[in-house]
Amino acid sequence: MSETEWKKLIEEIMNCRKCPLHKTRRNPVPGDGNPQADIMFVGEAPGEREDIMGKPFVGAAGKFLDHLLDMVGLKRSQVYITNIVKCRPPGNRDPREEEIEACIPYLWRQIRLIKPKMIVALGRHAARTLYSRAGLKWTNMTRNHGRVVEAVLEGNRVLLAVTYHPAAALYNPKLRSTLEEDFKKIFREYNERLRGLTTSSKRSPNLLDFFRKS
Ligand code: URA
Ligand code: SF4
Repeated sequence: MSETEWKKLIEEIMNCRKCPLHKTRRNPVPGDGNPQADIMFVGEAPGEREDIMGKPFVGAAGKFLDHLLDMVGLKRSQVYITNIVKCRPPGNRDPREEEIEACIPYLWRQIRLIKPKMIVALGRHAARTLYSRAGLKWTNMTRNHGRVVEAVLEGNRVLLAVTYHPAAALYNPKLRSTLEEDFKKIFREYNERLRGLTTSSKRSPNLLDFFRKS
């Protein structure tokens, strides 16, 4: 990863005025965690706490995400967390199509620099945007939550996983255990398909090729 390129990208986001969201934001939220990480999480857009702090997932949904990360043995410092749209939509409305279009090149550049081994889409906006970029057909979350597929994103072979948005579990408590089970399944698969490989590369040479970074 080029540190210069990364710094330049974050600066651009911090000064961005490419869509109307720049007028109402308090702080842009480029992302948080380790840009050298193997695992990336992509949410939807910053909420009020995130807008105030300039960091993703620091409000109520963020607390639940921390719990989910903890459950699978991950710290924030071991992953990179960002969103489809980097500035808060007023009143937490959904980001508009033209706002996503203006902002999404930043996510593609983040992926090109980070070269993650797995990307976890949190919620349907992130899921359909990432599926579409990878040329995969997105149907709906009911069918696809917990699923891990092989994909190519920004010239990079990755595992693409999807689950519900952690905020959904705050409105619908039944989704808490669904999200917990999805996280367990996703990271079990991640470990099987990836970490296992590095210790016994003979078992699955094709998959090793699959993850060789260019
Ligand atoms: N919801 C999101 O999608 N992203 C955040 O950063 C916070 C809440
Ligand atoms: Fe720029 Fe994205 Fe913020 Fe719009 S949401 S102003 S495109 S950083």
